[in-house]
This record gives sequence, structure tokens and C-alpha cells, in this order.
Amino acid sequence: MKIIVAGTGFVGLTHAAVLSESGHEVYAYDVDAKKIAAYNSGDPAQINHYVNEPGLAALINETINRYLFFTTNIEAIIEGTDAIFMCLPTPPRPNGSSDLSYYDKALDYIAPLLAKRQDGRRIVIINKSTVPVGTARHLESILKRHNVPNFGIASNPEFLPEGDAVERSRRPDRVVVGADTEDDMRILRRVYSQFVNHVRIAFIETTPETAEAIKYVANTLLLTYISFWNGIGARLGEAFPNVRMEDLKRGVTADNRISKWGSYVSNGAGGSCFGKDIQSLIYQFKTANQPTGLLESVYQINEYQKTYLIDRAIHEAGAKFNHKTVALLGLSFKKQTNDMRDSSSLKVVESLLARGVKEVRAYDPLAIPEAKHYFNPDKNHLFEKISYFDTVKEALVGSDMVFISTDWEEFRGLSGTIEQVVKPPFLIMDGRRMIPDYTEMVTRGYGYIAVGSPYLAPKS
Ligand code: UGA
Repeated sequence: MKIIVAGTGFVGLTHAAVLSESGHEVYAYDVDAKKIAAYNSGDPAQINHYVNEPGLAALINETINRYLFFTTNIEAIIEGTDAIFMCLPTPPRPNGSSDLSYYDKALDYIAPLLAKRQDGRRIVIINKSTVPVGTARHLESILKRHNVPNFGIASNPEFLPEGDAVERSRRPDRVVVGADTEDDMRILRRVYSQFVNHVRIAFIETTPETAEAIKYVANTLLLTYISFWNGIGARLGEAFPNVRMEDLKRGVTADNRISKWGSYVSNGAGGSCFGKDIQSLIYQFKTANQPTGLLESVYQINEYQKTYLIDRAIHEAGAKFNHKTVALLGLSFKKQTNDMRDSSSLKVVESLLARGVKEVRAYDPLAIPEAKHYFNPDKNHLFEKISYFDTVKEALVGSDMVFISTDWEEFRGLSGTIEQVVKPPFLIMDGRRMIPDYTEMVTRGYGYIAVGSPYLAPKS
């Protein structure tokens, strides 16, 4: 199959690379010539600068210029194309609705080219990035308006978690394809021939609208589940001293019907998808006159969770932040990524600065260059109070307390490092329950407050 993937961010680049591995002729298109040059160079550092996914740069190097091609010009390659995947960003607008301007702009470029094709073949235009229910129909009307001949529209949402995108693209739980006609479904089956009759992969054929809805229900359900643990599980552990979170979690999720994924309590779920998708669904429900109570509660619980540990530190531990130095461990929205979109750390920094801290000493194994874009002192002079360090130890030096915001594995050994570097009185705020031996830390004179536990005052 000859396939164009329009948009080479996280979704598009991974998708293009994995499709090329199946022997399709894949053209990854982007309007950004610098990005295309970086991908074309094959240099892992340059590729990772744009999309940092384990195994992705290596995969690109295996298929580049054999099955995978990068281009800024669709016109030159449109003839003979069977499918175009639309993988454009759809960020939230301030009112929660999805901003489709990147999508529409790409379509403005592609639709006239589709109209001019001479090959007479059937071509399917497929929405892959998350778009509101009804967008495939909107796509159809635009293509009709341009008098595009012999085309079909489809929805094929992506379900990739960051940090594991290549592996999960190769072995997805399911592939959802929504199309109107058997002809279009046949093209989609050929694109995904390796998955169609796979014993462990559900290949789900449905309508475009259902496929679009599946993505929203899946993401909002996952966020609802995380928020259930944060809003109910963690609260139980905080209100009743002998409720132990780890045991509660194991006891509840031993039931095969209840997911283990999503049951670790945290200072909120971040990332480019959950917050954006739930806000978009709230907006879509409002537009369709449907009740939004459950969705709004989930969204609010998740937002509240991001910084409530700081408020608890004040109320339960009597912590004072004014003129204090705080080590901040973890900036990315989860481990194994440098992505800081909607990361809880953004809210943590905002809250600490608003409380007058003297310095935030930040450490993250990957996200520091990213953080410098977010915390740019030219934008806000308060960001001058943030300094960055290459190791946990350096970040802890001279600090009065630490806030753990990301679940990087290396933080599991933190208690030893804290003991080496800082003497009590010292407060540990643990947003990810990363310190298994916290009761020992308390006997050694450190204060400890975590999501899911009441404040434990130092014992000596
Ligand atoms: C999420 C979904 O998991 C993917 O299926 C989906 O395709 C993707 O969004 C998307 O729509 O593109 P991702 O944003 O990469 O993937 O991140 P997750 O691994 O789902 O984690 C989201 C947040 O939840 C992170 O901040 C993570 O630390 C947090 N989390 C996760 C918890 O707080 N508790 C948990 O038990 C699990």
C-alpha cells in the first residue's frame, strides 16, 4: 500500500515508522522543513529532539529510504496513494473544545491535491489523532466541497501511551477502524493486514462516529479510574491512619475484574491527552445537551490532586513555604518521557512560587531542557527562582523540603540519598508514594506527607 501520514509528531512519526516496518511504502509529511530534515538525517539525537520514544530512531533507520520517506511536498507523491492518515495536533481551546485549526489547515492543503489526482483509484482519508465525534463527517463534507473523486473517510484512533509507543504500535490491544463502506474497510484491512486475524489483537470494525467515541470513552474512563483511586482510595488512607495504601490496592485489585493499571495514587494524571480529552468531551456533551456532572467531577478531582499536598503540608504539618528552599524531583508528566504537557509539576511550581519560596531546585533525568521552555524567566520573573541540577543529590543540597512529582524509578532509593545530604528538620512531600521505608525516615527525624497517608511527624 502507498500511504501518506500527515503530521509527524508523536502519533504520526511512530505510526509512519511502524507501518513502514510492515513493508508499506510510507511517506511521512510535515509542514515543518526543519523537522523533516532532522528525520531524514537518521541521526538519533536529531530525531529524539522532536519525538523521544524508545526504539523509534532505530526503527526509522531500518526502513528509511527503503519503505519510509520524509517529505514536505504531498503534491509530488499523491498519485497512486491508497490512504492518508491525519495525525495533526488537536490542542484544547480555553473553553475546552478541541482546536482543529492545524487539522483544517492540513486539509486545506491536501483537499485540492486530492481533487487533482489522475490515478482514478479509491483513496481513504483517515483521522488518527483524537478529534471530536463527528469530525470524520466534517472531513467528508470538506472533501465533497472540493469535488474530490472516489474517496472514503475513516476514523482509526490511536491508543498509544508515551514511552512505550513503538512496542504498543507493534502489539496493540486493539485496532479500531470506523468506515462507511466495504471498499474503504478493505483498504483499512490491507493497511493493517498483520493485525486483522491476530489471535490476541481485537480488530474492531465499526462506524466512523463509534470509532471516534471509543477513543473518548477509553481515555475518560482511564482518567475516571485513576481519579477514583485518587479521590476515594487516597482519601481513605489519609483519613484513617491504619489504612495502608499498598495493601488496599493489592486487596482490591486482586479481583480480576478490577484493573491494576491506574490504581497507584498520585498528585494527578497529566500528559497531552487525558486533560484535553475530558475537557473536549465535556464541551461535546454541553453542545449535545447531555449532563456533564460525572466528567466535571473527574476533571476537578484530577486538578485538585496536583497541588493539594502543598495545602496539606501547611494544614497538617504546619509547613511554611515563605523564603524556603524546595527540591523538586521530577518534571515530566510520568516516567520515561521528557514530555511536560499538563504535567503536575507545572502546577506544583506555580503553587510553590505563589507561596513565596526562595528557590526551587529541580531535577529530572530527561525533562530539564523542556522545563526551560515552560519556566522562562523572560515570561515571568518568578521563574528566576528555579535552578536545575544534574543529580538528585545536588538538587537536595541546602533544601528545607522535597516534593516528589514524577514516578521515576531512581527515586525509590531516595531515603538513603536524603539522609546523606540533608539533616532534619526536613519535610518529604511524596506525590507518587516513592519512598517504601517512610516509617523509618520518620523515626530518623524526617517529616513525611504523601498522597494516601496522613502526615507523619518526625519521631525524634
Ligand atoms: C494515555 C492513554 O493511556 C493512552 O491509551 C492514549 O492513547 C493516550 O493517552 C492518548 O490519548 O494519546 P499517556 O498520556 O501516554 O497515554 O499516559 P498514561 O500512561 O496513560 O499516564 C497518564 C497519567 O496518569 C500520567 O501522569 C501517569 O503518571 C498517571 N497515572 C497513571 C496515575 O496517576 N496513576 C496510575 O495508576 C497510572
